Amino acid sequence: MKKNQKNKFYITTPIFYINDIPHIGHAYATIAADTLARYYRGKLGEENVLFVTGTDENSQKTINAAESKGMDVQEYTDETAKKWQDTFSKLGITYSRFIRTTDDDHNNTVRDILTKVYENGDIYKGIYEGLYCVGHEAFMKSEDLIDGLCPDHNKAPETIKEENWFFRLSKYQDKLLKYIEDNPKFIRPESRRNEVLSFIKNKGLEDFSISRESQSWGIELPFDKTQVAYVWFDALLNYVTAAGYGTDEFKKWWPADLHLVGKDITKFHCIYWPAMLWSAGLELPEQIFAHGFFNIEGNKMSKSLGNSVSPLDLVEKYGNDALRYYLLREISFGNDGDFSMNRFKVLYESELANTLGNLVSRTAAMLKKYNNSEYIVNLDVKSLVGLEDFIVNLEFEKYLSEIFSRLTALNVAIEDNKPWELIKNDKKKAVEFLSSVALEIISIADDLKYFLPDTCESILKIFNDGRVDDTVGILFPRLDM
Ligand code: MSP
Repeated sequence: MKKNQKNKFYITTPIFYINDIPHIGHAYATIAADTLARYYRGKLGEENVLFVTGTDENSQKTINAAESKGMDVQEYTDETAKKWQDTFSKLGITYSRFIRTTDDDHNNTVRDILTKVYENGDIYKGIYEGLYCVGHEAFMKSEDLIDGLCPDHNKAPETIKEENWFFRLSKYQDKLLKYIEDNPKFIRPESRRNEVLSFIKNKGLEDFSISRESQSWGIELPFDKTQVAYVWFDALLNYVTAAGYGTDEFKKWWPADLHLVGKDITKFHCIYWPAMLWSAGLELPEQIFAHGFFNIEGNKMSKSLGNSVSPLDLVEKYGNDALRYYLLREISFGNDGDFSMNRFKVLYESELANTLGNLVSRTAAMLKKYNNSEYIVNLDVKSLVGLEDFIVNLEFEKYLSEIFSRLTALNVAIEDNKPWELIKNDKKKAVEFLSSVALEIISIADDLKYFLPDTCESILKIFNDGRVDDTVGILFPRLDM
């Protein structure tokens, strides 16, 4: 079998910290992953797609958040993880598993892998003194601070001095450099790959601490009960836990086909993760794709600005598909972008309500009026070709743009053919024309359903088997209604 001819597809999103409720930045990778999972299910069969998302719970942030609410940590994690699960369910995310790093099977994975890595000689004891940023859940270098503050979190890191266990990352430097150079698609997009390559070449890889002495919450090290695993070492391993590590399932799913991550966490995924996997004797994922960040109305999304946008508020008002459409159409995946309510409404009105919604409703209405709701099903119509490359390459905006050009062309064809005039003296021609439009809409809905599942389900119901069903409501109600 050729490498790119897949027989299964395992896709992951980052797992989310639970000190926060989900904002649209978090929904972004999850919606993209959901779109891909739906596509691959259609190609490979339901049973051959594994799509995992979840929550990253064993961190200092969790402890701080629980304390600030005066809650027990376990109680806090249960309550917050549920909020994340509910949000993703309401967004129509079709994950196969929602993993929590407090799940028992994950605990077993982490302890098992730590034992393997330890026995392999890649873990040793040392003293760490450094600046720890809880926002990043990582140590920082003083040269990365601005006026003593972490530039991303605007907070001074804590100075921590601890006896910790270290992972021999440095040992894997040459192997990793060669691997990334030899496998141009391992890290995408190209810009991120180059960043990682130059990081390794210019800064070199230093061993990192994989345990915490002072933290009370987390996964105990199997070889030292006084310490818990460092949250990133633990969190990355969620990907193997969810693939059924330790069971027969694992052979089927591992290695993962695609890790979708944000550009802020590439170092962990593209440097720490491959080295950890090698040390544990496991294969590397096929690809890590880092998407960009988006601002809100031109400003960085931040707690202090209080400008974060809730995906639930948006979908309550505009529907799931409108949010999916905006995120995957407006911003080229991999690049940074902006979330603007004004642009959201413009795209909703012009592309979803007008180009798509109107095309469907006018075609259905004319068929009802001119031909008793019936249309001819055995006409040859063209379908869009070349779209698959776009989705496989995560060029979602190109995929959608092709589809919308075709929808626009269909609207133009209606204006040009004027079925409302044609019907007066050539009914056959009018019905044939409208039937061909209906058939093209069906074929487009079939391509669009990964992106707009609810809408396409309605479209396929409206044009079902030769008859227009006029009981389905308006696809995208006007915003002023
Ligand atoms: N828990 C870690 C990931 C562990 S994966 C083994 C983490 N969690 S997070 O909740 O802080 O972030 C999760 C994801 O949300 C990251 O991929 C991050 O890039 C993404 N985003 C957070 N804010 C974002 C935007 N403003 N825009 C786009 N994505 C953003 O990191």
